[in-house]
Amino acid sequence: MSRTVQRRQFVRTSAALAVGGVLPSPTRAFLPNARLRTAHVGVGGMGGADLKSVSSHTGVQVAALCDVDANILKAAAATFPNARTFRDYREMISAMGDTIDAVVVSTPDHTHAPAAMTAMNHGKPVYCQKPLTHEVFEARQLRLVAEKKGLVTQMGIQASAGLAYRRATQMIQSGTIGKVSRVLAWSYKNWGYDGPAFTSFDDVPQNLDWNLWIGTAAMHPYKKGIYHQGTWRKQIDFGTGTLGDMGVHIFDTPYRALALTYPTWVRTTCRKPTGVGHPERNIVEYEFPGTPYTTDTMRWTWYDGTDAPPATDGLGVPEGVKLPSQGSLFVGEGGTMLLPHVAEPQLFPEDKFKDAARPDPEPRNHYHQWVDACMGAGKTSSHFGYAGRLTEALLLGVVANRFPGRKLMWNAENLSITNLPEANTLLKATAREGFKVAGL
Ligand SMILES: NC(=O)c1ccc[n+]([C@@H]2O[C@H](COP(=O)([O-])OP(=O)(O)OC[C@H]3O[C@@H](n4cnc5c(N)ncnc54)[C@H](O)[C@@H]3O)[C@@H](O)[C@H]2O)c1
Repeated sequence: MSRTVQRRQFVRTSAALAVGGVLPSPTRAFLPNARLRTAHVGVGGMGGADLKSVSSHTGVQVAALCDVDANILKAAAATFPNARTFRDYREMISAMGDTIDAVVVSTPDHTHAPAAMTAMNHGKPVYCQKPLTHEVFEARQLRLVAEKKGLVTQMGIQASAGLAYRRATQMIQSGTIGKVSRVLAWSYKNWGYDGPAFTSFDDVPQNLDWNLWIGTAAMHPYKKGIYHQGTWRKQIDFGTGTLGDMGVHIFDTPYRALALTYPTWVRTTCRKPTGVGHPERNIVEYEFPGTPYTTDTMRWTWYDGTDAPPATDGLGVPEGVKLPSQGSLFVGEGGTMLLPHVAEPQLFPEDKFKDAARPDPEPRNHYHQWVDACMGAGKTSSHFGYAGRLTEALLLGVVANRFPGRKLMWNAENLSITNLPEANTLLKATAREGFKVAGL
């Protein structure tokens, strides 16, 4: 950490202003050479990558590690022998108290909100993996609490810090292709399961605390390969399907660039609900109110699994251009932008845009940005004020896949679906006894 950054932290500069209009305050005054003591919930899979990236900041001291899998916890502890280890994040946050400054949450989706809210209830800044939450209501609550408490937060969408995505954002906002009327976005991935409910089960491995893994969700018997690790994404009680997985990354740039807010309606085309897994293929349409960068209304459509990539007839993509397996397409009044996932934007018609300005954003480290902000220097770009809204919009599409073909009309102010009362029961889950968290 540079001297300048340290000095800036010490005097708590005004650069820390404005997470949703609230002053995000560092947890304590950081004296020169002080370090940010982090606690990590979930240290396998992406949690391992988060641990590495956060701790690569020279101002970080990893103080505590938590995982429900003893083998994973042991492996992480070998790299950070001075960190205290825990199986239960509630115990960790409470036992560590004032000896930790900030919390990183990298668990499966259904545990994001409970762990992040527990940390925020203790006044800790939070880095939380995407999608911010499993439920629409939770996304609203995390945003409101983070804003009310003025806590530094960041959602794990590291691609948003990449130069290509930020260049595309600047080009859209400077009007390169004019006002945008449609966005198409897609991923070939299939985090769905169209099969029946499971009828045979397995013994829980000794290294895994299954009760803590299930957490706030309803208890399910353990089945090898279906939940832990990674495959929980397909199951409705734990993951958010392909939309919640890749949709967050790919929708982020259109959402940010076009300054979108809440959709007015959402409709998913997919197979009938099974009550078990998310559908293996989804086409999800959203309509958003107009913004300074869009026409009067803006239509966004998501395609996943074998429905991706979509057809582009009449959308300004020249014949012979093959769409990438993941990406988005902006249709503007004056041209079309193809934005492959984490690659450079392409503009059509090519002749018209051959000399178009390509801005050059400053390099940014998404993880270090959060660490610096926790210590009082600068602010985060994907704080819960932004990520809460993005996740809320996105998760409405996940709710819509339980009512295929139905247009769900959204009243954002009242947090309700106005034309289908039964859909409102899917906006908020009831936590299992013993796992309730204040504020959720
Ligand atoms: N930003 C990205 O590019 C990116 C990439 C992959 C995953 N992710 C996100 O990271 C999160 C984790 O995904 P993954 O693929 O690593 O899943 P995973 O199942 O491979 O890993 C989850 C880890 O959390 C642990 N865990 C589970 N429940 C826990 C609990 N209650 N307390 C403590 N530890 C617990 C597991 O034992 C495991 O170590 C998800 O939200 C996912 O969407 C983000």
